[in-house]
Amino acid sequence: MPWKNSDTRYSTMSIALHWVMVVLLAVVYACIEFRGVFPKGSGGRALIVEMHFMFGLTIFVLVWLRLFARALGVAPKIVPAPPPWQAALATLMHVALYVFMIGTPVLGWLIVSAQGHSVMFYGIELPPLIGENKDLAKQIKEWHELSGTVGYWLIGLHALAGIYHHYIVRDNTALRMMPGKRATP
Ligand code: HEM
Repeated sequence: MPWKNSDTRYSTMSIALHWVMVVLLAVVYACIEFRGVFPKGSGGRALIVEMHFMFGLTIFVLVWLRLFARALGVAPKIVPAPPPWQAALATLMHVALYVFMIGTPVLGWLIVSAQGHSVMFYGIELPPLIGENKDLAKQIKEWHELSGTVGYWLIGLHALAGIYHHYIVRDNTALRMMPGKRATP
């Protein structure tokens, strides 16, 4: 069944969502980091920022599907098993990544709401989460930016851990999340 993990690898659904979200995160970051390419007030600037909002909210929607897929069974075993402290650290990192993927888009939606604007999501106008309050919008924007910076670190460390396990420890940690690859080292 495409939703359920096996003993050796994540489900097809989890693998697909994982890699789609990697691409989405890259696009969400790129849209906001490169917004300066377009002058303020231009159509290009408005479009690239709208894309940041829309793909950011897509991450918020997809993360619940990932949590659902994850809740359907236990994670495939790592062979050979890592020491308990490493397993605990990995769990902590996964929890932090989920909090980031849920919290950051919500903070973004709160900024736009407090600025007095609505957000378009694939042609649907989403209602504001809170009333207009410019001072609060500035405050939430700082939290959102901090969350974005923390996200860079979490994603970077998560990717480095995968590379370390694959090339140095040579276990099946990364293979469990690879499409169409054998899942044992
Ligand atoms: C996982 C999803 C998201 C990530 C990783 C993310 C990350 C970021 C980052 C890194 C910045 C730039 C900070 C800076 O300039 O230093 C930013 C700005 C911003 N984001 Fe997000 N964001 C996400 C989702 C959203 C969503 C869903 C919305 C709105 C619905 C949103 C609204 C904003 C706004 C309004 C700004 C400020 C833009 C400006 O200064 O012109 N973000 N975000």
